[in-house]
Amino acid sequence: MALLELKGVSRHFGGVRAVDGLDLAVEAGQIFGLIGPNGSGKSTTVNLITGLFALTSGSIAFDGRDFGALPTHLRLGRGVARSFQNIRLFGQLTVWQNLWVAQNSPADHAKRGFLSRWLGGQGDVREEISQLLEFSGLAHKQDELAANLAFGEQRRLELARALATRPKLVLLDEPAAGMNNEEIGLLRDRILKMRAQGITVLLVEHVMELVMDVTDRIAVLNFGQKIAEGTPSEIQADAAVRKAYLGGETA
Ligand SMILES: Nc1ncnc2c1ncn2[C@@H]1O[C@H](COP(=O)(O)OP(=O)(O)OP(=O)(O)O)[C@@H](O)[C@H]1O
Ligand SMILES: [Mg+2]
Repeated sequence: MALLELKGVSRHFGGVRAVDGLDLAVEAGQIFGLIGPNGSGKSTTVNLITGLFALTSGSIAFDGRDFGALPTHLRLGRGVARSFQNIRLFGQLTVWQNLWVAQNSPADHAKRGFLSRWLGGQGDVREEISQLLEFSGLAHKQDELAANLAFGEQRRLELARALATRPKLVLLDEPAAGMNNEEIGLLRDRILKMRAQGITVLLVEHVMELVMDVTDRIAVLNFGQKIAEGTPSEIQADAAVRKAYLGGETA
């Protein structure tokens, strides 16, 4: 059974069919790519999976249970985390504090003894944050305000923050946007490490070298509908995909 399963998912904004009858199945342990021209419905799909937008119709199941009507924080509690296309961090908190807040997501309080963590912070909590800082190359910036970080560092902190919630599935919406080749190489390594640690990844991305390199499977959207799905090499050879990318809209 797929970890994440969308069936007939639609989201309309007035007359705009941003996502239109989408079926998607992401298996546990996969890096699954979601690509398509600008405005094809990728971010809307991510927003539907995380619960930021309500479904117009269709259903979403996660880990074998229906999921499509839950509020965002409960989806996070079940193990779905994300990064945003436009970075959203707590700018006036430090790097360390941003991770600490994420670790203490609401669904976690009862489970892990919130009060004792608040009073001094247990060793394992600090250890986990240290590991995430190391993973993201941000250890030397841990006391910096998030707002003062360079752009690439903010992107890294967003990813670390998503991981701090101990997710089963991470949704990445254009994590490579604005990055240079060296940064993209490091991002690639981090995404592969996530899979090696058993985290499933849904990757929305325009940087095709990255998508073709790291994904196990790819779905292609155009005008809110899936026009192709397959392995990276199948997608690269697909005529409908080429047409969608070359036919008018920039990608
Ligand atoms: N909140 C909203 N209100 C109205 N229309 C929206 C809203 N969000 C998205 N849309 C529309 O839905 C369509 C799909 O947008 P979406 O942001 O999902 O595309 P995308 O594939 O992520 O594009 P990009 O690659 O540029 O990020 C577009 O026509 C967009 O204008
Ligand atoms: Mg988008």
